[in-house]
Amino acid sequence: MNKRIAVLAGDGIGPEVVEQALKAVKAIEKRFGCQFEYAPALVGAVAIEQTGNPYPDETHEICMRSDAVLFGAIGDPKYDNDPAAKVRPEQGLLAMRKKLGLYANIRPITTFKSLVHKSPLKPELVDGVDFMVLRELTGGIYFGEPRGRSENGLTAFDTCTYQRYEVERIARLAFEYARQRRQKVTAVDKANILATSRLWRETVRQLHAEYPDVSLEFMFVDNAAMQIVTFPKKFDVVVTENMFGDILTDEASVITGSLGLLPSASVGIHTSVFEPVHGSYPQAAGKDIANPLGAILSAALMFEYALGMPEAGQLIREACEQSIAQGIATTDIAAGKACGTSEVGDRIASCLV
Ligand code: IPM
Ligand code: MN
Repeated sequence: MNKRIAVLAGDGIGPEVVEQALKAVKAIEKRFGCQFEYAPALVGAVAIEQTGNPYPDETHEICMRSDAVLFGAIGDPKYDNDPAAKVRPEQGLLAMRKKLGLYANIRPITTFKSLVHKSPLKPELVDGVDFMVLRELTGGIYFGEPRGRSENGLTAFDTCTYQRYEVERIARLAFEYARQRRQKVTAVDKANILATSRLWRETVRQLHAEYPDVSLEFMFVDNAAMQIVTFPKKFDVVVTENMFGDILTDEASVITGSLGLLPSASVGIHTSVFEPVHGSYPQAAGKDIANPLGAILSAALMFEYALGMPEAGQLIREACEQSIAQGIATTDIAAGKACGTSEVGDRIASCLV
């Protein structure tokens, strides 16, 4: 049976970068003589407009019946500028993560040799950086209850909750990935302040007994924020809770030179989702200037983590590397004349067939 890919392009630059990722996927179909089924579905602000729901049930059904989800971006200034809006595009993303049980978000941070000079950090710090952040994605302050406002509106509160099993399952993944890499896990928390962080520490430490071949260090998140940009090469697998992971991965993206380059994979109980780390970048939508590499590299992760075709993932990564080296790049990373989004997508696809 053909594998099915749900395509959730979403808002802003989402559709145009997903279109480029699909060009790469179709080139792989040709090259490997395989065929996928594509199932487009609504998510984000476009879904609110058409159905009133940022993650409609129909979209969830399509995701559940697919082997992988290729995701663009969600978000629209219309909602950002309206604090009273009852439904928001971001709720669609959170609902999707929760309903698909995507408790682990994998964000690899690797640099491209030909882009080392684009990083605001010194080239010798950046060249050869290769670590992954494993961000917990369905717990913590993003989902904890109660949350809201007091009756008089003068107090607001959010709750950060973690249960032991939630920490254990992602910590296990961190140790497993570290085994396939350089055998080092850094667990980032704020255990000097937060009770949830102390539960994390205790759980990670106990699980470590099953992985004596992997070294484990704990680091407070403030210190980690400093060390990630001071000694980025010392990290291998970083595992952390939802909000810390959100913040640290935006920070880590500057190492590579552009947020537009970073892919991610969200895995867990049901279908895995592959999406660029960047958001919907509404100012660039429809202008053919957005960097499609985050989306294309997310497709590479899809072949590795969901479709059982690691060679295809590797080929896509090499094609991206090649096109950057040849100066086929969008304005955020171009050395000379910048290329358009679709031109970059075409060139990468043509390297693949
Ligand atoms: C991300 C984004 C989301 C998050 C937003 C859009 C809800 O910043 O995927 O990192 O905070 O998780
Ligand atoms: Mn984020």
